[in-house]
Order: sequence, then structure tokens, then C-alpha cells
Amino acid sequence: MTAPAIRFTDLEKSYNGTHALKGVSLDINDGQFFGLLGPNGAGKTTTINILSGLVLKDKGKAEVFGRDTVNEYRFTRSNIGIAAQELPQDWFFPVEKLLFFQAGYYGLTHKTAEPYIEKLLKRLGLASKRNARLRELSGGMKRRYQLAKALVHDPKIVILDEPTAGVDVEFRHDMWKLFKELHNEGKTILLTTHYIEEAEMLCEDVAIIDEGKIIAQGKPNELTKQSEKSGITIQLTGWNESIHNKFNLYTYTFEDNRLHFTVKDPEESLPEIINILSQNGCHIQNIKTDKITLEDVFLSLTGRGIGEESGT
Ligand SMILES: Nc1ncnc2c1ncn2[C@@H]1O[C@H](COP(=O)(O)OP(=O)(O)OP(=O)(O)O)[C@@H](O)[C@H]1O
Ligand SMILES: [Mg+2]
Repeated sequence: MTAPAIRFTDLEKSYNGTHALKGVSLDINDGQFFGLLGPNGAGKTTTINILSGLVLKDKGKAEVFGRDTVNEYRFTRSNIGIAAQELPQDWFFPVEKLLFFQAGYYGLTHKTAEPYIEKLLKRLGLASKRNARLRELSGGMKRRYQLAKALVHDPKIVILDEPTAGVDVEFRHDMWKLFKELHNEGKTILLTTHYIEEAEMLCEDVAIIDEGKIIAQGKPNELTKQSEKSGITIQLTGWNESIHNKFNLYTYTFEDNRLHFTVKDPEESLPEIINILSQNGCHIQNIKTDKITLEDVFLSLTGRGIGEESGT
């Protein structure tokens, strides 16, 4: 078996009394689009920064393609590109120059880096800003620059720490498209976010982190199916009492010509429900489904909304 692209084993970290990570273990496979989802202060950035060496862990292990991030720093660092959550502070240099500096950190010559940087600037919509200094860029443009910087050495693993925080909807959609393209090109992506829809839309697998611990993990669809809380409401005519026993296996109520079912997955249950009703002389007037989201999963696990701070 090949080693996972990223493996965290029992990571622990405290900052002067704040126990930020309390034993985080995660495997992210090569080529996977993985989401680390959690509220402010949950420990997402700390986890990521341990991978790059920016934060020193107290305990546990972080590995990239089976190699330790401390002992084999050069190998692991060259395989990852991180688009940091914090916006860049290099105010005085033009965008293009900063990208050449960054390529230089990875040992790429100006000549080797040039065509790739050219492509990146175009791909990220930064070509017209190549000579602008960072301080002259808008917040959204700075985020694009962060991404260009993460991709400049064409790493196998791309880490996106809240890449769409505080940007407008159009920009967010542009970024989502780009992330999907990177994934289709075979890159492993680790995305942290507290935008639930971003995780549901993009990630094949997610882990939910709260107060420094992973509290749930799986495919978004599986996580939402674990709790039987989604609903289907059907307005109808022609109901008769004999239909009751056809729905023995369901949890439902019937009132005012309105049938309400509590199910795990509305898409899975709806065809059978409709079949039973139409075969028993009911006429359906309206159908409404309420599928639970990862937000509801988080709420039922922690008693808090994901928009609230970790540990409050
Ligand atoms: N440099 C630091 N010094 C002291 N405490 C820190 C430091 N960095 C993080 N923390 C604390 O560690 C905890 C985890 O923070 P972290 O930045 O990893 O969370 P996060 O999940 O990335 O949150 P956000 O969604 O706000 O980015 C928080 O309680 C935070 O206040
Ligand atoms: Mg963070």
C-alpha cells in the first residue's frame, strides 16, 4: 500500500496554556479533495502550520507521502504548497517579482520558472496586476496572489486555509472552479473552511474539528445520513386509513391532508413513498423536502452552530 499524501498521528499542541490540538489523527489520500471543517479557533490553521513547520508540535507526527515533516523537511516542504489564511505582508514588491522570489526558495531558476509563472498569472486573473505592489491589490486579488504563491513550484499537495474568507460570491465561484480543476489535474487538496456549503460542494471527504479534536469524519453525504432528521412533506388528497399499514416502516405523521416523514435521505425514500401513494388512490399536490446539512450535523454533535467560536 502506498502511504497517504498527508498523515497526522495524535498531534498535540498548546500555546501558553491554550490546548489547541488534543490528539488530531487524519489520513488524506493521494489525489483526494479533503475538507477540514470547524468553527473559529477549532485548530485548523494550527494543524496545517505543523505540516509546513511554521508551528512546532508538542506531540504526535505529521507525514507527507510517508516521510516525516521534521526529519525530512526539504522533501515534505517541496511537495506541499500552502495558501495561508493570513494575507501577505510583503507590501513593497511587485506581484511577479514576489512569485520569482518564491520559485527561488524552491531552487527553481528564473528561466525554468518563467513560463510557469506566466501561466499562473493568466490562470489566476493576475496578469494585468503583475507589476502592482501587493498593497495596491484588493482583498480578493491578494487571495489570488496567495494561491499563485502556493502553486509556484507545482506541488503535488495544495493546502488552502480558508481561501475564500471574506470575498464576494463571484470570486468564490471562480475559486471553486479553479480548485475543481486542480483536483481534476490530480492534485491532493486539503481545504479548511467554516463555509459548510463550500465543503459540501467541493470535498469528497470531510473531517469536522472542534476544540482541537476530530469529532466526525466521512463523505458529506454519509455524515448527513447518519442522523434520521431530514424531512419530506407531501400535501395530498384521497388519503384513507387503509394506507397507514403500507407505511409501517416509516416514521411519519398525517394531519390536514399533509403527510410528514422523518427520513435519513429524502432522495432515497421519496420514489417509494410516491409509488405507494399513487398506487393507493392519492393525488399529490405538493412535495417539499428538507435535507439536513453538515451544519445540522455539527449542531447535533456540539450543541452549537459552526459560526460560533470553538469552546464557547
Ligand atoms: N500563535 C498563537 N499563540 C497563542 N494562541 C494561539 C496561536 N495560534 C492559535 N492560537 C489558539 O489556538 C486555538 C486554535 O487556533 P487556530 O488558529 O488553529 O484555529 P482555526 O480553526 O484555524 O480558527 P479560524 O477559523 O479562526 O481560522 C485558538 O484557541 C487560538 O486562539
Ligand atoms: Mg484558521
